[in-house]
Amino acid sequence: MNQVSSFTHRFIPGTAPRAPLLLLHGTGGGENDLLPLGGALAPGRALLSPRGQVLENGMPRFFRRLSEGVFDAVDVVKRAHDLADFVKAARAEYGLGSAVAMGFSNGANIAAALLLLRPEALAGAVLIRAMVPLADPPKSDLGGKPVLILSGSADPIVPIENARRLADMLRIANATVRHETLPAGHGMTQGDLAIAGQWLQQEF
Ligand code: MLT
Repeated sequence: MNQVSSFTHRFIPGTAPRAPLLLLHGTGGGENDLLPLGGALAPGRALLSPRGQVLENGMPRFFRRLSEGVFDAVDVVKRAHDLADFVKAARAEYGLGSAVAMGFSNGANIAAALLLLRPEALAGAVLIRAMVPLADPPKSDLGGKPVLILSGSADPIVPIENARRLADMLRIANATVRHETLPAGHGMTQGDLAIAGQWLQQEF
């Protein structure tokens, strides 16, 4: 199968010569979810937005989980490689430069897995409410790529200690990590959007 059609996705061509955004939705979302957000945060950039291929009670996700916060490690690895291959095929098909991921929740977790397993797939990432996707990732070198992690101090799903562990993991892999904790729960807030928009503008 042509890998660009391996994922149901939306592609919005860019009008500005800036890094494209790879938009990765949360559990139960889809390829249309984050398009308005991507367009508002980063006007004029190309947007590539795939739908996760795993269904949990009918809700799309990017990898399987055994329970809330407990991930199927074999599936995380397989799905991260499938997504990285899709991103590569989409870049060739649409003539795109290296993309910056913007992921929320499950989408942030698969973006973190991409960074750790296939660092060449991304130029950097915004990870909103992310947690450690793999307990024991292989050594990787992100070569200083910028990563913004936005956590919520009252997130009932992602303990702050877990998000800090992810930040450390990415720093050890040589990413340039900025980790901010907002007075928020698991949901995205205006505060997240303000910081993410400014960071994207500055870094990419
Ligand atoms: C979710 O509900 O998507 C979780 O918070 C994150 C995940 O399962 O990857």
